[in-house]
Amino acid sequence: MTQIQVLFVCLGNICRSPLAEAVFQHKVSQSGLNKKIMVDSCGTGAYHIGEDPDPRSEDVARAHGVPINHKARQLNKADIQTFHYILGMDDQNIRNIRRLVSESSDHIYKMRDFDDQGRGGDVPDPYYGGAEGFELVYQMLDRSCDRLLKKIILDNGLEQ
Ligand code: 4NP
Repeated sequence: MTQIQVLFVCLGNICRSPLAEAVFQHKVSQSGLNKKIMVDSCGTGAYHIGEDPDPRSEDVARAHGVPINHKARQLNKADIQTFHYILGMDDQNIRNIRRLVSESSDHIYKMRDFDDQGRGGDVPDPYYGGAEGFELVYQMLDRSCDRLLKKIILDNGLEQ
């Protein structure tokens, strides 16, 4: 069976999407699906390529017992073909992802389409705020990742 590949996308790939990657990866590991689901993240912008996650994302992940380890990279055209599920954090991310796509593609989603509390909203950029913004982002990602994982398990008939 092909490995299901899941990509989280934000602007800088240092705050939201590496945290989303870490939260989702943790749930995948806890569900015993490591061999079946591969997880990555990237940014639409090039400002932070090669950097570790923002220390505030690392802090909030660790506070919740979630391992986090990523080097920022930029989204490229091949990613759109490679990954089976692509999750943008906000409307701007979605527009930038779609710019790389010629035909309509139904594997690009907005992260909070999977959030029961505020479905379809943005995961707000916490970069210019304080730690409380990162905790809010964590909570949104935690809820959304639960429903996203359920969907991926159902879509692909994965056994845990
Ligand atoms: P992210 O947050 O997209 O969640 O990684 C940002 C990080 C850096 C910048 C913007 C957003 N920046 O403009 O440098």
